[in-house]
Amino acid sequence: MKYNIVILLLWSFFAASVKLEAQAWSLSEVEIQAKLKLLNKPAVKTIKSKDGDIIDCVSIYKQPAFDHPILKNHKIQKIPTFFQESQYSSEKHAFKENIEVFQTWQKSGNCPNGTVPIRRILKNDLLRAASVDHHFGLKPPPLFVNSTNTNFSESSSSFAVISENHSGVHIQSTSGSGYIGAQGDINTWNPKVQLAGDSTTAQMWLKSGNGFDFESIEAGWTVNPTLYGNNDTRLFSYWTKDSYKSTGCYDLTCSGFVQTSNVITLGAALIHVSTDSGPQTGFTVKIFLDELGHWWLSVANYNTSIVIGYWPVELFASLQHSASVVQWGGQVISSQLKHRTPHTKTEMGSGHLADGGYGHSCFINSLRVKDYSQMLKYPESTTVAAQEPNCYNFFNDVKDGQEPAFYFGGPGPSCV
Ligand SMILES: *[C@@H]1O[C@H](CO)[C@@H](O)[C@H](O)[C@H]1NC(C)=O
Ligand SMILES: *[C@@H]1O[C@H](CO)[C@@H](O)[C@H](O)[C@H]1NC(C)=O
Ligand SMILES: *[C@@H]1O[C@H](CO)[C@@H](O)[C@H](O)[C@H]1NC(C)=O
Ligand SMILES: *[C@@H]1O[C@H](CO)[C@@H](O)[C@H](O)[C@H]1NC(C)=O
Ligand SMILES: *[C@@H]1O[C@H](CO)[C@@H](O)[C@H](O)[C@H]1NC(C)=O
Repeated sequence: MKYNIVILLLWSFFAASVKLEAQAWSLSEVEIQAKLKLLNKPAVKTIKSKDGDIIDCVSIYKQPAFDHPILKNHKIQKIPTFFQESQYSSEKHAFKENIEVFQTWQKSGNCPNGTVPIRRILKNDLLRAASVDHHFGLKPPPLFVNSTNTNFSESSSSFAVISENHSGVHIQSTSGSGYIGAQGDINTWNPKVQLAGDSTTAQMWLKSGNGFDFESIEAGWTVNPTLYGNNDTRLFSYWTKDSYKSTGCYDLTCSGFVQTSNVITLGAALIHVSTDSGPQTGFTVKIFLDELGHWWLSVANYNTSIVIGYWPVELFASLQHSASVVQWGGQVISSQLKHRTPHTKTEMGSGHLADGGYGHSCFINSLRVKDYSQMLKYPESTTVAAQEPNCYNFFNDVKDGQEPAFYFGGPGPSCV
């Protein structure tokens, strides 16, 4: 099967296309058991969540990150002080629910200090991924197309506000250019996912590199039944060092990300999602670089900020120093996008096109970047881009004297 990704980041059109077929794979029982043993670490305590998830409280020193050969001698880092400074915590955010009870599993128990809550991976999770030719925990291998200016994956459809620091592309030195942090308030919804293998996100990306060749760290919410087994809206993180080709993964499904929080579970379902014309909920996602080159991830709401952990400096090359591009938006991954008909009915955002406005369309607002000036600011130069503007669209609502709001999304079909 060929998987397409529509990202909101098209600033060009396709010319010739290169088809890199995803390799079909299957697993024997022995391979499944071996993989599960590798993925799931011994638990100090186990919590059965009402939504069916099993959360293992795993010693912070035994988490999956330390299986990575490059992290064998890694020392767990302390939360950088700037993350606790008022600059980051006293801002006004759009959402008021209590972040301490933010995920469904938290109603069923908590993990002791010194452990990290990890969503247990089950045999069925592996089988589902294999049945749609996905490698477990990875975004499907992109089908890149060759165009005049840049290379895009043909297997995703997305919309994004892009803040790009051209001087920061291909950063090799520590002299500093580009972005060292970014954040945004992401409105949460529960869009429909139609086809096996499809997924949808609202998220932030920080990238370094371009074209076929970039490193990316990402976080936001997703509906991804292939990965998680149901259609719930979940908090996720992602990383790749090689443009989604072979490194990285969602959450803690591979070794890399170092979790420090005993409160938040990556990949666990969110309690609150927004409803049409109803109360609007969401969370702030923040990703900031520390002095040693570790990228820290936190989620926040009205008055609380929880640091989840960090992507260690060892994982990356150019991202060690800064990101050259920050993007906010949504992404639909499907085998039925672009020129393939019928177009998937998987929704982006709330499922509404962007013109619905507050309470109807999904938004991300309070977009901020930080560069070496150390100031948090609205990005000076932004581009908005959509790969399938008739299926999923966007509206960057910029009014004088008001915080801009970026709306995006759509129902999927009826656009080809
Ligand atoms: C866990 O650590 C937090 C923060 O240091 C502290 O407030 C809390 O009391 C600790 N809980 C237990 C059960 O030790
Ligand atoms: C992309 O297009 C160029 C020019 O048409 C071609 O030379 C190159 O081989 C193509 N790249 C791939 C990976 O096919
Ligand atoms: C891009 O980076 C340069 C060098 O750090 C900086 O002076 C400039 O303000 C940045 N541009 C944007 C749009 O952030
Ligand atoms: C697109 O991909 C081809 C094949 O890898 C590469 O040769 C070319 O430099 C890329 N173009 C851009 C603009 O990144
Ligand atoms: C997810 O939603 C789709 C479309 O509404 C439905 O067909 C499918 O059965 C759901 N999947 C699960 C695992 O509930």
